[in-house]
Amino acid sequence: MEKKLQDQIAIVTGASSGIGAGCARALAGAGATVVINYPAARSKEKVSKVADGIVAEGGKAIIYQADVSKEDEVVKMFTDVTAQFGTVDILVNNAGLQRDAKLVDMTIDQWNEVIGINLTGQFLCAREAIKEFLRRGVDETKSKAAGKIICMSSVHEVIPWAGHVNYAASKGGVMMMMKTIAQEYAPHKIRVNSIAPGAIATPINHEAWDTPEDLQKLLKLVPQKRIGQVEDIGKVAVFLASDDSDYINGTTIFVDGGMTLYPGFEDNG
Ligand code: BGC
Repeated sequence: MEKKLQDQIAIVTGASSGIGAGCARALAGAGATVVINYPAARSKEKVSKVADGIVAEGGKAIIYQADVSKEDEVVKMFTDVTAQFGTVDILVNNAGLQRDAKLVDMTIDQWNEVIGINLTGQFLCAREAIKEFLRRGVDETKSKAAGKIICMSSVHEVIPWAGHVNYAASKGGVMMMMKTIAQEYAPHKIRVNSIAPGAIATPINHEAWDTPEDLQKLLKLVPQKRIGQVEDIGKVAVFLASDDSDYINGTTIFVDGGMTLYPGFEDNG
């Protein structure tokens, strides 16, 4: 049976672990050739294991090191991937990190690092992806769209988050960046959407769930009473990358077990 993303080329940024690795596996399972982007700080051996796992399952993947906050590295990544595979069909703008501190203690480096990776990084990758989508146009043999971008946002694009002003500002920024790019390029049959994960079990938030006490506290914020898994996000990434979502553009899909439903009001507030 033809797979939904057969022969499409996908770049997944920050795909060496967590949600990015989950999306890379899911897209590869749907037939895409996946470029697993990772930063210099990650060990190449660990990243290779993600690619090896995909190949062992019959998928196609390569690894590519680039810092998404650096313009020259992002431009080179898109040039190299396009040279190797002919084009790029899907971008999962996933790379992101937290550098938490109360506002009064937050250093300019903590602010800049988070905005640099989470927001500027998504801007740079989206810009290069859109240039390639416009150059190629629609290839009906692969998709009805000229290209698809999936921005990894967070419930914190709408939930304010004390102690994380840099992160919440970056995700609020991602929301308006995504919608603006979607509006600008929808006439070219380019689709841009976001996924807003809630609490997903990954290294970024392990201190929020790795003891039974912490997990119980966290689950008070999740009406569905379970922590999310990266597979919950991967499935939605495949949906947003495929023609199943061909009429969806400029939308955020919350994948959060109800975290954005004001769980404090569950028992009458
Ligand atoms: C953050 C996690 C957090 C979750 C829910 C995510 O965007 O990266 O650390 O657990 O939002 O608050």
